[in-house]
Amino acid sequence: TYLQCHNLTDECKELLRSLASENGWLPTSHHLYQGFWYITRHLNGVLSAQHHFKAQDSDIFLLSQPKSGTTWLKAILLALLNRSRYSEPDRQLLLDHPLLQKNPHDLVLHLETRLYVEGTNPDLSSFTSPRLFATHIPFVSLPESVKESKCKLVYMCRNPKDTFVSLWHFTREMSPNDIGTNTLEEAFDMFCRGFSMFGPHWDHVLGYYKASLEMPHKVLFLKYEEMKDKPSEQLKRLADFLGCPFSREEEADGRVDEIIRLCSFNNLSKLEVNQTGKLLTGHENKSFFRKGEVGDWVNYLTPEMVERIDRITEEKFGDLGLKF
Ligand code: A3P
Repeated sequence: TYLQCHNLTDECKELLRSLASENGWLPTSHHLYQGFWYITRHLNGVLSAQHHFKAQDSDIFLLSQPKSGTTWLKAILLALLNRSRYSEPDRQLLLDHPLLQKNPHDLVLHLETRLYVEGTNPDLSSFTSPRLFATHIPFVSLPESVKESKCKLVYMCRNPKDTFVSLWHFTREMSPNDIGTNTLEEAFDMFCRGFSMFGPHWDHVLGYYKASLEMPHKVLFLKYEEMKDKPSEQLKRLADFLGCPFSREEEADGRVDEIIRLCSFNNLSKLEVNQTGKLLTGHENKSFFRKGEVGDWVNYLTPEMVERIDRITEEKFGDLGLKF
């Protein structure tokens, strides 16, 4: 069982005895902890991060649900924060950009799936300021110091229908030989019931959306669709929020567009490293690049499915005016 197949901390093993568990999506169990679903390994990482991670005021966090545009935002944040290093004194330096050599997931690490996944307290002393981290942990379960410090949180969310379709493809690819994979209908039902990795999807979004309304200086709420539609506007918004606005010279120099091009689906997905490489965890890099479009759900969902999921979205988000 799941208790035997992982390097789990005693605390995690103990806790697992009292948590509701469910199977689906992947050939591994999911557990309901503080209102959200985690696979066993990730739960180990969440608990460890909650215990050990100490935020610094200058830290920057990327937050999201899986399949909401995490890979893209990792690339954008890296390019934005390191922009002076990779353009001065000459543009040739762009060719050395880390994003051209590595997948964004090996450059910006997730707390629960990478840094803390073994249940240990990793040495973060080599991180330079501002430290950049990512996590799918919902707002309620963030390590306390993340909420209490002045660190900045950038949340990326995406239309629930596209997020679902992307998640369905991704989990099928991650499951060897179709073991444990679900039909589209089964997966859709699970998603709508709130059972998905780091879900319920809507509660996750709401946690961060409310936090962004209450603490606009701490939490920035981005939408995948807006990023696609008006990338330069959104990138400048992000830079302003992080306290590193583009200067007039940089804008005139085309630096905003340069970052958008570097991080675009077309550019990143065609790089050799992302076509044939693997993450340090063994994941295929190409699994993070599928279509990268808005509205692909029309090719998968029936009118009944659309009605069901739209109704949930309206019920959950309608009062707050959050629309997709
Ligand atoms: P699709 O499956 O709809 O194509 P995440 O990074 O959170 O895992 O999300 C993955 C989704 O983002 C996938 O969506 C993927 O194709 C898309 N994506 C990856 N890189 C992107 C980029 N640079 N620009 C836009 N979308 C991107």
